[in-house]
Amino acid sequence: MQFTNEELTQKINELKNKLDVTVVAHFYQRDEVFDIGDITGDSLELATRTRDDDSEFVLFCGVGFMGQSVKVLSPDKRVVMPKIACCAMAKMIDGLYFDESVAFMEKNGISKENILPITYINSNADVKAKVGEMGGLVCTSSNAKFIITEALKEGKKILFVPDRCLGQNIANQMGLKSMVIGDGGDPKENDIICYDGFCSVHQLFSLDDIAFYRKKFPGILIAVHPECDPEICDASDFVGSTSQLIKYIKELPLDQKIAVGTEFNMVNRLREKNTYILSSTKPECPTMNETTLEDVYLTLKAIDDGEPINEIHIDEKTQKWAKIALERMLAL
Ligand code: 13P
Ligand code: SF4
Repeated sequence: MQFTNEELTQKINELKNKLDVTVVAHFYQRDEVFDIGDITGDSLELATRTRDDDSEFVLFCGVGFMGQSVKVLSPDKRVVMPKIACCAMAKMIDGLYFDESVAFMEKNGISKENILPITYINSNADVKAKVGEMGGLVCTSSNAKFIITEALKEGKKILFVPDRCLGQNIANQMGLKSMVIGDGGDPKENDIICYDGFCSVHQLFSLDDIAFYRKKFPGILIAVHPECDPEICDASDFVGSTSQLIKYIKELPLDQKIAVGTEFNMVNRLREKNTYILSSTKPECPTMNETTLEDVYLTLKAIDDGEPINEIHIDEKTQKWAKIALERMLAL
């Protein structure tokens, strides 16, 4: 039977009132799904605020690594996802590719003891566990600069996975030297050695798009997410995580025009006027967009029926080391 969004929202709210469940939604979710979130935020806020929440069930509307991070930090919570949607960037690396990256650095004269791995939170639990086991930690787009600053105090080479853009952007901001594995660079000559992963959604923004908007609306500001290419970030007026972008844009005078380089759903609900998507295409994250209200309803109904679906389970060893990597970040 087909329900309208209004009917689904009503059914969802009834089940939310009945069950011991918290609905969590990332900014990139479709509007109607975002609106039923009890906790919303960027990756860091979702991980910490959900950890501090005491419901038995967490229904996570986002991508796999985000739900996993909640489970890793709070193993006693039951985390379910309306869709098992995997971030394309997180899929670009697994434990094996991580080991190969370490081996590449060793082959180039850097011993394992002198490597400090940092993984962007956009990675699966197995990669976080590898990083944790090697003494490394996690960062998010909102704290990457701070985490790297702290990590450098250990005097080691940073192996940064999986997002080459975030790694290079932070290196540029800090005046550090960076390379991407496979670009022919020498790890000994660089401070941050980046894995060659990227977000296909944030690759959609180009210098031509920036030139187009600057010409069309003189005085316009350009704000982008640090998953964009370094040349895009360098040519922009502001670079920040989803929460940082929202704060920056909401504080602008209403008549200040801005073009934003990040996911469509978030940008679209920011301001009524004077806000543009920095791309001639529609930059939607395909997996974030997979979750529908109907999925949320069916997942809640499954909890109510006593047979939860799409529950996240993580093996003990992965759980232990991934938690250590995440907690090292939170401790800082
Ligand atoms: P934020 O941590 O900025 O929310 O980013 C998550 C993400 O996947 C951006 O593409
Ligand atoms: Fe992953 Fe990119 Fe989607 Fe963010 S926008 S969840 S990095 S694929």
